[in-house]
Amino acid sequence: MTQDELKQSVAQAACKEVLERMPAGQLLGVGTGSTANWFIDLLAPQRQHFAGVVSSSLASTERLLKLGFTVYDANQLPELFSSELLPLPIYVDGADEINPQGHMIKGGGAALTREKIIASMAKQFICICDASKQVAVLGQFPLPIEVIPLAESAVTKALQAWGGRAVLRMIKSGKAAGQPLLTDNGAWILDVHGLQITNPAQLENELNQIAGVISVGLFAQRKADLLLLGSETQVERITFN
Ligand code: A5P
Repeated sequence: MTQDELKQSVAQAACKEVLERMPAGQLLGVGTGSTANWFIDLLAPQRQHFAGVVSSSLASTERLLKLGFTVYDANQLPELFSSELLPLPIYVDGADEINPQGHMIKGGGAALTREKIIASMAKQFICICDASKQVAVLGQFPLPIEVIPLAESAVTKALQAWGGRAVLRMIKSGKAAGQPLLTDNGAWILDVHGLQITNPAQLENELNQIAGVISVGLFAQRKADLLLLGSETQVERITFN
């Protein structure tokens, strides 16, 4: 199977999972990236099952709207579902790396901040990945950190204390090639190389304290609850405590 076919098979498994576990008329949180795109496309015929969806990026929102989903802004949720502290039963998203505890690196698609916000509103995080994303220790994939542009240089220097080498993410092609990539929030991304992340929750906490950091692509405080992992032979279902 190609990597794309693996992504497609985990996305299909995630569709089955949400349709079985969520009664009709609830809200679903939807992530960003190529695996999440498969999930959106495959779920589209069942969109009426949901009261609506909440999306973690402009790209996913655009895709969802094109396919006829009702998309709510995260700020509308307290009004619509006022009694619920966590208004989304489930959030489904991919990851760039996931360790045996369900801690993840995310943000390869630059949507980490909104992903963190929507994930924080969900009771359950279902991570959908192909087997190449499973690692023993996080950090081989450069850790994305979203920063206020003014703080880029200061944050880059501060990261040296953790042994990290930060590289500003640039636009790779098109008219704006060579310019810093702008996130949906109008900020920049630093990709931090050289980290061996043995204590993800602690590092997430520490990096969040650096002035100018908007959010860190470590999802350890809010880790995955369930991993659907696509390999050559099967989609494995791994739960985390
Ligand atoms: C988006 O910012 C990311 O967090 C994605 O969830 C992550 O990069 C996985 O993307 P793919 O599904 O495209 O591998």
